[in-house]
Amino acid sequence: MAESTPRPGVLVTGGGQRLGAAVCEAFARTGWTVWCQYRASRAQAEALCARLRDEGHRTTAIEADIASEEGRRALIAKVTADGPLGCIVNNASAFEPDTGLDFDADAALRQLGVNLVAPLSLARLLAKSAAPGDGIDRSAIHILDQKVYNLNPDYFSYTVSKLALERAVALQAQSLAPAVRVCGVAPGILYTSGPQNQANFEKASRANLLRRPIDPADVARACVFLAGTPSVTGTTLCVDNGQHLVPLARDIMFVVDELLKKGSTP
Ligand SMILES: NC(=O)c1ccc[n+]([C@@H]2O[C@H](COP(=O)([O-])OP(=O)(O)OC[C@H]3O[C@@H](n4cnc5c(N)ncnc54)[C@H](OP(=O)(O)O)[C@@H]3O)[C@@H](O)[C@H]2O)c1
Repeated sequence: MAESTPRPGVLVTGGGQRLGAAVCEAFARTGWTVWCQYRASRAQAEALCARLRDEGHRTTAIEADIASEEGRRALIAKVTADGPLGCIVNNASAFEPDTGLDFDADAALRQLGVNLVAPLSLARLLAKSAAPGDGIDRSAIHILDQKVYNLNPDYFSYTVSKLALERAVALQAQSLAPAVRVCGVAPGILYTSGPQNQANFEKASRANLLRRPIDPADVARACVFLAGTPSVTGTTLCVDNGQHLVPLARDIMFVVDELLKKGSTP
């Protein structure tokens, strides 16, 4: 890359809050330009970016509809007009309760759209933005879930979408090489979700080999590592305190619910 060319930046989808915000912070504090995509979390995304800019980092909040191809194309066009894009962290996801028996076809398709098609599409748009010989190391990092290595039938459509995305890491790495590296990061439980309350979360977050909560900053750091390590492609890192090695018959929040009802602890 020529001396005058700005350093490539990172696009984080669903970057306004929770894990997405931790990922934006980690990249910004490592010197990356950050584009933080949001859909509904405008206030959080803008506050996060303003805070990071106050620290001296280059961050911009961008509203976009990543559920449509038109929205994804417009997003990539906007970002690449602002500066060279080196990495996309596909963090946004929809997480809706259902089972293999009762799933609603439209809700399942919505989740597949956001959790599977959007990441695959954004990664290929990144590949298409590459000019031969421009010297930019490009990567797409798909945020998965330890569930893909530790199956239980709860959150059926969500799990199907993440299973497909996990399988697609190697496939897409083959498909997009040499323009874009493709990696996965599979976190364990990080935040309360759906109907889960704080008491449940306190217990659920320790149901892993290390018996302590997972620090979202560790997941974010893993993304920065993969984005900055040009020899890695087609592989997934679990950042889950070994949760994927603790098999459970149901989603951890339901297991804890049962234990709390019986007055015992996991
Ligand atoms: N939370 C956990 O404990 C956990 C555990 C394992 C894996 N993960 C994975 O880690 C990632 C982040 O988890 P999280 O809990 O921080 O995520 P989250 O809060 O559930 O969602 C992150 C963002 O995704 C965007 N989003 C959600 N539904 C969308 C839709 N239908 N269309 C477009 N955008 C949508 C939202 O952005 P706006 O708010 O701007 O609309 C939301 O803030 C996800 O990929 C998740 O699967 C999370």
